[in-house]
Amino acid sequence: MIPADYADLAAKFPDETVTHAYVRDVELPGAGTLALVTLDNDLDHRRPTTLGPNSLVELGAVFEQLKARTAAGSLAAVAVTGKPYYLAAGADLSAVGRLATEEDGRQMARLGHDVYGTLSGLGVPTFAFINGAAMGGGLEIALAADYRTVSAAANGISLPEAFLGLIPGWGGVYRLPRLIGPRNALKVMIENALGNNRALKGPEAYELGIADACFEPADFLEQSLAWAGRILAEDAERATVAERRAQKAAASEDDWEQAISAARSFVAARTGGAAPAPAKLLEVLASGRGKTQAESTALEIESLAELMQTPQFRDTVHAFLELVQKRAKRPAGAPDKALAQPVAKVGIVGAGLMASQLALLFARQLKVPVVMTDVDQAKVDKGVAYVRAEVDKLLAKNRLAPDAANRTRALVTGSVSKEAFADADFVIEAVFEDLAVKKQVFAEVEAVVSDDCLLATNTSSLSVGAMAADLLHPERVVGFHFFNPVAAMPLLEIVRAPKTSDEVLATAFSLGQALKKTTVLVQDSAAFVVNRVLLRLLGEITAAFDEGTPAAVADTALKPMGLPMTPFNLLAMVGLPVAQHVTESLHAAFGDRFRVSANLQRLIDAGVTSLWSTDDGGRQVVPASTLALLEFGGTPSTAEELLRRTQDALAEEVGLMLEEGVVQAPEDIDLCMIMGAGWPLHLGGITPYLDRVGAAERITGRKFNQQ
Ligand SMILES: NC(=O)c1ccc[n+]([C@@H]2O[C@H](COP(=O)([O-])OP(=O)(O)OC[C@H]3O[C@@H](n4cnc5c(N)ncnc54)[C@H](O)[C@@H]3O)[C@@H](O)[C@H]2O)c1
Repeated sequence: MIPADYADLAAKFPDETVTHAYVRDVELPGAGTLALVTLDNDLDHRRPTTLGPNSLVELGAVFEQLKARTAAGSLAAVAVTGKPYYLAAGADLSAVGRLATEEDGRQMARLGHDVYGTLSGLGVPTFAFINGAAMGGGLEIALAADYRTVSAAANGISLPEAFLGLIPGWGGVYRLPRLIGPRNALKVMIENALGNNRALKGPEAYELGIADACFEPADFLEQSLAWAGRILAEDAERATVAERRAQKAAASEDDWEQAISAARSFVAARTGGAAPAPAKLLEVLASGRGKTQAESTALEIESLAELMQTPQFRDTVHAFLELVQKRAKRPAGAPDKALAQPVAKVGIVGAGLMASQLALLFARQLKVPVVMTDVDQAKVDKGVAYVRAEVDKLLAKNRLAPDAANRTRALVTGSVSKEAFADADFVIEAVFEDLAVKKQVFAEVEAVVSDDCLLATNTSSLSVGAMAADLLHPERVVGFHFFNPVAAMPLLEIVRAPKTSDEVLATAFSLGQALKKTTVLVQDSAAFVVNRVLLRLLGEITAAFDEGTPAAVADTALKPMGLPMTPFNLLAMVGLPVAQHVTESLHAAFGDRFRVSANLQRLIDAGVTSLWSTDDGGRQVVPASTLALLEFGGTPSTAEELLRRTQDALAEEVGLMLEEGVVQAPEDIDLCMIMGAGWPLHLGGITPYLDRVGAAERITGRKFNQQ
């Protein structure tokens, strides 16, 4: 049935990279024959398996054939697994993004349900062996099976649909909460998805109950098959699984309500209602509560068809495919990779907030010795202790294997003497944001290290060229700007100073890639990209507040942009003094476009850390004691005026950055804001947004992007 019904849809995608479904029979001693279906697009591991219409039609046809065999009694079980590193990376977004009509979308949604439904209705026990990444539709295949195993080395297990502008509408939204309870299901579908598309590792997926068993990667398939044999043959093994599942799924009526209401608040805070998908997901989940699976299926199909036609989904697909995937993989302007030098030891100057996080990242990802220095032993000890404590937390959460935890702990050491950097290949400083201090630090480090050791700075706003100016080898200096929190923020701005050599830059890019960060080349210009854009935005909001705009109006005016947090909350998170300090650098570099707010300084002087406080009734208020510190003008703005003013300011700043050549192209600014500031994908990037709302043309006389 499946191939015939969907032939027309599949024919619309002749260029699809097809994921094939290969079948082989495996004899399970004492339990009969298991048909093992392997999903594979016959390409190397850099090309994940995805599920477009042609792939699904083929998979459906294979399941139909297996159904005939189960009906004839010749199969005891069916299992699905994937090519190395992937079960499947989900629906083929380039195909889904090109579905022209709502009816095509409906067909695509129904096709997935039909195929997965065939698997779950085979009439024999079904298994999914999650050997690697299982994203979206890839994980939903596994959820459609009766039993699941997962590899301890798998990562990339997620239902990212809400992040991409869809819902896990191939059964995930129905099945996952019933498998692992509503709270954990919403953590996966909402919190992880909207939290920058976070994915689970194998052991975490097992812990949550997504998988019934977890095996080491070395003999994952053999172990999974043997386990499947036991499930088929032994009542006790099935009873153990059933008991564990009952525990993981247990949820009262109250649990459901609380989980949904907490997720609603999370979504409102994250998207400000500007992205329709997460809200739709919650609606389907909540209303599907009392529905049968068939009724929920109908709802899922309609919701998917509707969402696929929204501009937010189209913009998301553009941002995801063109920026997050394509541009992030091939950073514009990066020199030839062949010039990169190996890095076998890393030095970090400072053991403070950023330095300790950097130590953990370098040790975990590069697996090379990392030594931190600071001005006294107590500070060094604190930095090293931070790394140890974080490793313990990761271990406890199953996000790090015991071996990796031991290795990471052993790799990180501390010293009060910069002599410890003598044999380092790469030294990064993360000391106070003060040019004189940084110059002094670099001079001290250069006196110790070898001639070909790179020197990097994590400065947020200072001139990298000025920092390098008095060194013997200024060509070895590069900016390496990470964002806080380092583990969670994917962006790394790599700053080329006037004298930075190509070899040094190439090493910086290769290192950034090894650290699994998205790297963007930026020129040595005050505050680079993300902080310059964010502080221009914050500057407009604080200026309007200072002019007399009520706090509630000022802080919600940008709601239609769907930013991950409001401006005043962002200010509090960055820290008022840090924001003020960076604004001062920007003011010095660019003048009055960046206004240093006297009110902000008053708050800093009084030790106020956030404008907002919560009153006894749980409402957000600016306390009277805070208001008493401030002086306001008499020219308040409305929310509409402030939104437009901020759009215009952003268009002006972005236009200037492009003119100055801070980055190679508008797409780099889009990528920076998405990866470094959580700018939402559904806007398609900041520059398409500014084009769409007319700000680019109003201010620069042209659009940033050709349509
Ligand atoms: N905090 C952030 O969110 C953030 C984000 C990105 C970049 N940065 C940048 O990272 C750098 C560090 O910021 P932080 O927030 O980690 O500061 P921090 O105050 O937490 O840490 C700075 C550390 O440097 C040490 N130090 C000072 N002089 C030193 C010297 N001569 N030798 C060795 N150690 C010395 C200090 O004792 C302190 O422990 C700054 O340039 C900052 O702009 C910060």
